[in-house]
Amino acid sequence: MTPRVLSGIQPTSDSFHIGNHLGALTNWVSMQETHECLYFIADMHAITVEQDPAQLRERTLLSFAQLLALGVDPKKSTIFVQSQVAEHAQFMWVLSCLTGLGEANRMTQFKDKAAKGGASSASVGLLTYPILQAADILLYRPNAVPVGEDQRQHLELTRDLAIRFNGRYGQTLVVPEPHILKATAKIMDLQDPTAKMSKSSPAGCVNLLDSLKVTEKKIKSAVTDSDTQISFDVINKPGVSNLLTILSAYTGTAVPELVDSFAGRMYGDLKKEVAATVLEFAEPFQNRVFELMGDRAELESLMADGANRAREIAAATVTDVYTKIGFAI
Ligand code: TRP
Repeated sequence: MTPRVLSGIQPTSDSFHIGNHLGALTNWVSMQETHECLYFIADMHAITVEQDPAQLRERTLLSFAQLLALGVDPKKSTIFVQSQVAEHAQFMWVLSCLTGLGEANRMTQFKDKAAKGGASSASVGLLTYPILQAADILLYRPNAVPVGEDQRQHLELTRDLAIRFNGRYGQTLVVPEPHILKATAKIMDLQDPTAKMSKSSPAGCVNLLDSLKVTEKKIKSAVTDSDTQISFDVINKPGVSNLLTILSAYTGTAVPELVDSFAGRMYGDLKKEVAATVLEFAEPFQNRVFELMGDRAELESLMADGANRAREIAAATVTDVYTKIGFAI
C-alpha cells in the first residue's frame, strides 16, 4: 500500500519565504509521487496568538493559492483548511483529557513563545497547541509526518498520546514516524547567516511574494565575510555558504560544481546569479498565485473539495475514538 503522509503549515504571513519553500514545501511537492499526501493550512493553530480576522482569512486563501502554485496538486493530494474539518477540534478535546498538565508544560516551543509574549499573556491555546497538532496527525493515521527539527518534540508527544490511547482503550490509533526533513536545504537569514531564515527578521528573509525589486535588493545586500574566495564552509563562511545552498536548490546544480564554476569570481557575481535564479522562479510563481487569487470561487471550491475528502477519513477516526471511550454515539 502507498504510505500516507500528512503535514501542515500556518497561515501567519502574507507570503511563504524561500526557507519554507526549500526547507519543507519542495518536499511536499516531491512526496506526491511516492505517497498518499494530506496537506493542510493550520488556521486553528494560527489563532493561538491574536490574529486580525480579515487578515487571517486572506492569508489562509493566499497560503492555499501558494501551495497550488508551488505544485501541490489537488488531483494527487488532499489539500484542505484545518478549521473546515470540525473533527480536529472534536478529537483534540479527547486527547487533551489524556495529556498531563506537566507534559504540556514541558514543551519547549510553548515555553519559548510564552516567554516572548510575557508569560501571563500566553493563552491556554498556546499551551495546548501540541495537542491540537497531535489530533491533526492521529486523525489521519499517516505513516510519516514530514516536519522540521523544531517540531520533533510535538511529534514525540503525538506518539506518546497514540500509545497511551491504544493502551487504555485498545488498538485504535497508528503511531506515526517523524520524518525530520534534513536532506533539503536549511536556509539561513541573509542578514545573520547563523540564524534560520524567519519572517520575524524581514531584511534577511526573502518572501516568495515580495516584489521582484525587493527580492533582488535583499539578496544583493546579503551579509558575506571579509574574505574574497567563494567556497562552502558553513562555520567560517556562513553567508557565502547560504547563498550557495540557495543557488544549488533553485538550479539543481550540486554545491561543489557551483564552487568550481565560481573559481576566481567575486561575491558580487554570486549574489547576482542567486538573485537572477530566485527571480526566475518567483516571477511565474507570483503570476500563478495572482491568477488563483483572482478566482475566489474556484479557490473556495477547491478548499471545499479538500475538506470533504479529509473529513471522510477524519470522521471515521472520530467515530472509532468516540466508541472506544464510551460516548453514547
Ligand atoms: N506546528 C507546525 C509548524 O509550525 C504546523 C502543524 C500544525 C503541523 N499541525 C501539524 C505540522 C500537523 C505537521 C503535522 O510547523
